[in-house]
Amino acid sequence: MPRLVRPYKLLAEHYDELFGFTRSWGALARANLLADVFPRIDAACDLACGTGTAAVELARRGLKVYAVDLSPAMCRLARRKIRASGLPAQVIRADMRDFHLPRQVGLVTCEFDALNHVPQRKDLGSVTRAVARALHPGGHFYFDVNTELAFERIWPVTWWLEKPGVVLVMRGEYDRSAGKAFADAEWFIREGRLWRRRHEYIEQVCWTDQEIRGALRDAGFCSIRKWDAAPFFKDDPFVRPGYRTFYLARKQA
Ligand SMILES: C[S@@+](CC[C@H](N)C(=O)[O-])C[C@H]1O[C@@H](n2cnc3c(N)ncnc32)[C@H](O)[C@@H]1O
Repeated sequence: MPRLVRPYKLLAEHYDELFGFTRSWGALARANLLADVFPRIDAACDLACGTGTAAVELARRGLKVYAVDLSPAMCRLARRKIRASGLPAQVIRADMRDFHLPRQVGLVTCEFDALNHVPQRKDLGSVTRAVARALHPGGHFYFDVNTELAFERIWPVTWWLEKPGVVLVMRGEYDRSAGKAFADAEWFIREGRLWRRRHEYIEQVCWTDQEIRGALRDAGFCSIRKWDAAPFFKDDPFVRPGYRTFYLARKQA
């Protein structure tokens, strides 16, 4: 029987605590790879924004920012972070396969393998079409994905992430014939003197470069460039060469 995928509730609550360390590498990659794009735009959308870290960083550059995520918990946390920053960013709860912004923007970002999270292969085209609709002609779509090498090498590893009062143990598997990866996340959360155990289930779709380029071209993107992520994640043993790829595509003018 298919298992219900409803991630990013517990993961949302503890996301910054457990994964915050990766965001400085994401910011480094963004600053480098989008250096020519930033001076030419006045508004951006961070798609699958998570807790709003990138949205705040984009707003700090003087951009009007829209931050989109499907998880109510993530949206709540993003709103809180944006409010605390005092910067102009609006959070919209929506699905990346069918989101609408109040206006078109010059840049859509979708970071930290969020694009691998859609439920089915056919969803990639829906995302690229929705992104194209959100962009001005000539606007840019920037994102990163986990590659098949990462799913084969690191997804089946047992991960142990621990902070005071919270432990996350993750173990996954990769089904090469289906091109899908699965992971069980076991949580141990301290409640007074006891530890409560909870469970979340996560799926990711593995995209080939050919599928990504096809979906981008069909949606009207051109000038598709890509970079390996490893040079930006120098101290992270889980991002070796070939594990994660950044893409930058331009919508036809
Ligand atoms: C790995 S997190 C990345 C968060 C953020 N981009 C970052 O860099 O930290 C993946 C995010 O994708 C969101 N997400 C998953 N499926 C989605 C969908 N169909 N539409 C919009 N957001 C989605 C999750 O709620 C989560 O916030």
